[in-house]
Amino acid sequence: TPRVFSGIQPSGGLTLGNYLGAMKRFVEMQGSEFETIYCMVDLHAITVWQDPDKLRHATRELCAGFIASGLDPKQSVLFNQSQVPEHTQLAWIFNCVARMGWMQRMTQFKDKAGKNAQNASLGLFAYPALMAADILAYHATHVPVGEDQKQHLELTRDIAIKFNNDFGVEFFPITEPVIEGAATRVMSLRDGSKKMSKSDPSDMSRINLTDDAGAIAKKIRKAKTDPEPLPSEAKGLEERPEARNLVNIYAALSEQSVDDVMRDVGGQQFGTFKPMLADLAVDKLAPISTEMARLMQDTTEIDKILDDGAERARAIATPILQKTYEIVGMVGAK
Ligand code: TYM
Repeated sequence: TPRVFSGIQPSGGLTLGNYLGAMKRFVEMQGSEFETIYCMVDLHAITVWQDPDKLRHATRELCAGFIASGLDPKQSVLFNQSQVPEHTQLAWIFNCVARMGWMQRMTQFKDKAGKNAQNASLGLFAYPALMAADILAYHATHVPVGEDQKQHLELTRDIAIKFNNDFGVEFFPITEPVIEGAATRVMSLRDGSKKMSKSDPSDMSRINLTDDAGAIAKKIRKAKTDPEPLPSEAKGLEERPEARNLVNIYAALSEQSVDDVMRDVGGQQFGTFKPMLADLAVDKLAPISTEMARLMQDTTEIDKILDDGAERARAIATPILQKTYEIVGMVGAK
């Protein structure tokens, strides 16, 4: 069976962007023709400083978010990256396959490291090689992500191709990114040119998965728009990033295409459209935040799910790592 792998960083605060770009897609792929494996990537989170208590909380909360969104820990493997050592072991091999020049082209490193790149952690620079290891430790063939991860997935393919070429094997699969749907890049509610992000200083710029109904509705009501009514067709959204973002969110939440949504709401004033969107968002998202809060009341269940997931993940990754060691020429590998 084809295998799906994806991960989310437990770096505190899940947003509507994470939900529509990733988590909702994870749920859609579960129970289809795929075997689905989803990971809390705590090793990626610590490439920038994380307070240990907050990291523990964020990891459990992310797991609660997965379950509240509809992932079933029996059908999907849910686990915490650090608990499966094969990720870091394979990442070292990939550090030796990937080239400095490839890593230097990564736009996320440039954005996150900022002007003072000399002071960024070595881990932040090597981050995409660990991401390739996450995926390829399971020979995953499909990776659902938001638009911002596209370049990292191209690098994953490059690493797989170079490894296979260097050793003359057909061992690692060439992974397919799955970047689909109406909301592969959810934008800030305050600025249609910026991605919705947990690190934006303004809380009004994003919907958090922990927001209650009141907060969700208020943020949509106050979302930035231009003064024109909605255009009559999707084409008219091209030069209107804020309007386009709200329509994309509506389409993704209601599971319709943008064209279908425009057939219903084209020509409307925002005074009519925003309350519709707010109702829809509250309807779909408030139950998730309620369920997350419930799951977080006693985290022993979550910890059990993560332990069980790590064991199942290891059962897949161990033989793949052993085979990799053997291909590379490491004595002692079985
Ligand atoms: P992270 O933790 O930044 O984001 C998790 C997922 O959410 C998506 N996403 C968005 N999608 C649409 N609009 C947005 N505004 C938005 N913000 C975030 C991201 O595209 C991502 O799919 N490097 C990854 C984590 C990772 C990973 C992996 C993913 C580690 N190993 C292996 C796939 C496979 C990251 O930092 O995602």
